Amino acid sequence: MFAQHREHGRGNNRAFQKAFFELAQACLSRFKFSPTASYAAFIQDSCYPPPMRRIDKIEPFRVMQLLERAKELEASGRKIIHMEIGEPDFPTPASVIEAAHQRLDGGDNFYTPSTGNPQLQTALSDWYQREYGVDVAAERILITPGTSGAFSLLYAVLLEAGESVLLSDPGYPCQRNFIRLAGAEPINVPVGPESKYHLSAALFEQHWQQNTRAAVVINPSNPTGTMIDDKQLEKLALSCRERGGYLISDELYHGLSYGVKSRSALEFDDHAVVVNGFSKRWAMTGWRLGWVIVPETLINACRRVMQNIFIAAPTLSQHVGITALQAEEETEAMRCAYDERRSLLLAALPKLGFDIVVEPQGAFYIYANVSRITDNAKLFCWDMLEQAGVAITQGEDFGVYRADSHVRFSYAASLDDIREGVRRIENYLKVVE
Ligand SMILES: Cc1ncc(COP(=O)(O)O)c(C=O)c1O
Repeated sequence: MFAQHREHGRGNNRAFQKAFFELAQACLSRFKFSPTASYAAFIQDSCYPPPMRRIDKIEPFRVMQLLERAKELEASGRKIIHMEIGEPDFPTPASVIEAAHQRLDGGDNFYTPSTGNPQLQTALSDWYQREYGVDVAAERILITPGTSGAFSLLYAVLLEAGESVLLSDPGYPCQRNFIRLAGAEPINVPVGPESKYHLSAALFEQHWQQNTRAAVVINPSNPTGTMIDDKQLEKLALSCRERGGYLISDELYHGLSYGVKSRSALEFDDHAVVVNGFSKRWAMTGWRLGWVIVPETLINACRRVMQNIFIAAPTLSQHVGITALQAEEETEAMRCAYDERRSLLLAALPKLGFDIVVEPQGAFYIYANVSRITDNAKLFCWDMLEQAGVAITQGEDFGVYRADSHVRFSYAASLDDIREGVRRIENYLKVVE
C-alpha cells in the first residue's frame, strides 16, 4: 500500500489518500478511539510528494552520528578526545582574519562574477606557477563554495543520468553521493595496500565501463592519508585520456604532506580536472571557498551552471583567499605541527595492536587495520567512545571493502589530546581483552 502511495505520490493521488484516511478512521473507531482529525487536517500533512527516490541512496555521514554522541557525553561533563573529525583544529591564519576586517569596513560585498573574483583567479594562476611550475590560464580556475560546491558543479556538467564514475573504496564518502544526486552511478573500486589505497591503471582496466565518464583520485587520500606515486598518477592520466574520460584529482590536502611533495595532476596532464580549496591547508573550513580547474572547453558550460546554482562563491571569502595564498609561514607552522602528531601516532598505535600497513604521508589521517583487536570496527569505535571517551571513525564511513577491519584516526587534535587519547586507548584495551 505504502509502496503504491510512493509510486503515485509524485503525482497527486488524492483518491489513495482519502481511502487511506477512511481506513484509518474505521480502525480507530473499531477499537473505541474517537477519531477527531478531519480529512482536511490529514490532507494538510500528507498531500505533499515524498522526497525523490534517489535520496534513498544517499547515505548518512555516520561520523556525524558519532560526533553527536560525543557531544552528548561532553554535555554530561565528560572530557572526550576527538580524533574522528576531519577539520583542522587551528584557527584561520591571522593575516586572513585581518584582511576580512578591513574588507568589511571597506564595504564592497556585492556578488562577484559567477566564475569568481578575477583577482583571486589571477592570484591562483600565479600560485600554480610558484607551487607546481604549471601554466594555468586564470579563466580556467572557477571559484566555488568549498570543494563540495566544485564537485556538485562538475557532476552537473559532466554526467548524463545513468553514466558512471570510478571511485576508490575506501574513499571520501560524499563523492558517491554527489554522483548519485546528479542521477549517475558511482563505481566503488576496492583498493588496498598494493596500490597504496589508490586507483591504478590495472584497476581501470578491470572496472572502467562503456558508460564511465571520469575517475576520481583523492591525493593525499581521505581516509588513508596515503599518496599516489608520481608514475602511477601519470599512468592514470594517460589511461583516462585513452578512454576518453576525465581524470578528476581532489587535491584538497595538498600542502599537508610529510617528507614528499604533493604533485598536481596538472603536471602530468593539462586536461586533468583539478579540485582544491582553502578548507584544510589554510584551516578555513567555515569560509566555504574552493576552486576547480577545468579544460577550456568546459568553461562556458560550468559558467552557466554556476550562474544558476551559486550565483557566486561568498565575496568576502574570495577576497581574503588572495591573502591566504601569501600566508606561507602560518601554513608551514600548521604542517609541522601535524607532522609531529603523525609521528607520535605512528609510533604508538602499532604497539597497541593497530596495524598501519602503508605509512600515510599526507592529510591528517591514519587508516589502521584493527583485525588484531576486533572483527567489528563499528562496535569497537562506539564502545571505545562510551568506555574510554575517545572518538575515532569506523571504516564503514568510507565504503564497504574491509570496512569491518579498519578505523580512521584524525590527528587534527592537539598533541596533549593525542597523548591522552593513546593513554586511554591503552587502558581500554587492557580492560576489554
Ligand atoms: C577528500 C575531501 N574532498 C572534499 C571535501 C570537502 O571539503 P570542503 O567542501 O570544505 O572544501 C573533504 C572534506 O572533508 C574531503 O575530505
